[in-house]
Amino acid sequence: MKHNPTHIGQVESVSGNSVTIKMASNYPSNMPIINGIVYRIGQIGSFLKIPLGYANLYGLITQAGVLAMPESLLMAYKENPSVVDGHRWLRMILVGEQIGSSFERGVLQSPTSGDQVHLVTNEDLRIVYGGYNAQSAIVIGNQSASEGLAAQLDMDKLISRHCAILGATGSGKSNAVSILVKAIAEKPFPSARVFMIDPHGEYASTLSGKCRVFRVGSNPEAGEEELCVPFWALPFKELMAIFPGKLSDQNEDYIRSKALELKRISASVIGGLREEAITADSPIPFSINQLWFDLDNFERITFKADRATPENLITVGDPATLRSNQYPPAGLGSSAPFLNTKGKGILGFLDGMRSRLLDQRYNFLFRPGGYSPSPNGATPNDLPSLFSTWFGHGFPVSILDLSAIPSNIMQTISGCILKITYDALYWGQNTLVGGKKQPLLVVLDEAHAYLKSGEDSISSRTVQAIAKEGRKYGVGMLLVTQRPSELDETVLSQCGSIIALRMTNTRDKGHVSAAMQDELREMAEVLSSLRTGEAIVSGEAVRIPSRVKFFQAANAVKSSDPIASKLWAKERPKASEYEICVRNWRNQSFN
Ligand SMILES: Nc1ncnc2c1ncn2[C@@H]1O[C@H](COP(=O)(O)OP(=O)(O)O)[C@@H](O)[C@H]1O
Ligand SMILES: [Mg+2]
Repeated sequence: MKHNPTHIGQVESVSGNSVTIKMASNYPSNMPIINGIVYRIGQIGSFLKIPLGYANLYGLITQAGVLAMPESLLMAYKENPSVVDGHRWLRMILVGEQIGSSFERGVLQSPTSGDQVHLVTNEDLRIVYGGYNAQSAIVIGNQSASEGLAAQLDMDKLISRHCAILGATGSGKSNAVSILVKAIAEKPFPSARVFMIDPHGEYASTLSGKCRVFRVGSNPEAGEEELCVPFWALPFKELMAIFPGKLSDQNEDYIRSKALELKRISASVIGGLREEAITADSPIPFSINQLWFDLDNFERITFKADRATPENLITVGDPATLRSNQYPPAGLGSSAPFLNTKGKGILGFLDGMRSRLLDQRYNFLFRPGGYSPSPNGATPNDLPSLFSTWFGHGFPVSILDLSAIPSNIMQTISGCILKITYDALYWGQNTLVGGKKQPLLVVLDEAHAYLKSGEDSISSRTVQAIAKEGRKYGVGMLLVTQRPSELDETVLSQCGSIIALRMTNTRDKGHVSAAMQDELREMAEVLSSLRTGEAIVSGEAVRIPSRVKFFQAANAVKSSDPIASKLWAKERPKASEYEICVRNWRNQSFN
């Protein structure tokens, strides 16, 4: 009888939806060629099928080799390896069934021992992977099982149910993000809205023509916009956290009340606001220089003999340049000038605050262009114009390039940007720019840099809120990290889809497999042997869990690893290069 080339073995045992397969010992090749296409047998993450009369059951290989043997046999094998007598073993989980040309996830019937197991050909796979809605499907690469077959994702599910891209450094996460976002951006949607936090400034080149870039020290000729994050839009506590030094609760409350006074004044200028709704957390401009000056003055002031009349100033200070008022110093004992006995003892904190306010690296925050408040709190531009510059431009993607931001405040800033955005979309939920009417996809690359589990920071609180309820308000999240084990578990568990790239760290693998569907946990082992750009994609955005090779982005992402053997083959650069190098360093610029 002629050997059917797709037949590879038979079902040996079934437990739940896990099936053990004994491969035929006479199977001619590991890489059979059927209709001119080479198939690889026994690849973890590839499919097999079990024909049952009118239906075909499909399973995904999760284990291969001796460990895939049934328990009983494995014991015997350990005592006497010859019992295997040339057979190979596979374990798979059943994932769906095909009737005619339609494929459904989940199985109604169960195979039995002795049922024949077949390779899945490209024609079969077309049925399995077909059935995406053309409007929302995006193509991100090829199926590893068969390179001629596109790997697709359902963009709607990806956005509404959140997604995590996990993998070691260099496993291809940033490339995967570029491909995914590009695929979304290339759809003919006039009001698509993707917001990327880009800690390394990697994405502008791969997404050029589809994005607007916001960065500190922008190059307007390249179409970039200056990144401004007005400090006054931050909740009070987060604003204080930017300054070095700690405040007692009492002193924090004291400063809070002073900030509130200033916000109240500018609220009356803006008009149309409910007075009782205004708190120190309200996104209302106020002059932080004035706040500093008033607080500082209160600490420094000295009084005449009546202990009520301020002494005459020696030097008149200035809020604009953050110069203190100077009074005649208080004398010792019982003669004037007298100290301000109500002073709070916060001059140390105020000094730290002043130096931060003067630090040019923080200009994007404290001198945010047209959003800088004058002493009475008025600003030339207000938040509506900030949001329209962030999202109202003609491109589907907004990239916030944070590469120029000092790393010690990276966490606060990315948190603040997210918080401001999420709050705006939340409160605007009934408007046409709210998330419910115009969903937003937030891409958080290198999330471990600003999201640590157990840390009560603005970024982790905001991301947790988005993970838990962003769905209701039309805010989806694409979270990218190389350290899933450092990520808050509730955040990871809220991700409906997981794209797991190569990963070798055992703890990280554990976290990833815990986040994947139960049946796929056995597959965690394969994660360490994935090729660069190859991933196990599972969850709601795919019809069926699959092993996928992402396309490579055309303009390689900027962080592409330098290739030493190629670069060292060039002439040694002139020593004068170091002049430029140091000048750039001193100017804090890259060119
Ligand atoms: N699908 C892919 N095919 C081929 N090369 C890839 C693929 N994905 C990534 N690479 C390459 O691997 C390197 C690391 O990729 P990158 O996306 O920066 O990894 P990560 O963000 O995980 O550190 C880059 O040089 C990139 O060009
Ligand atoms: Mg990266």
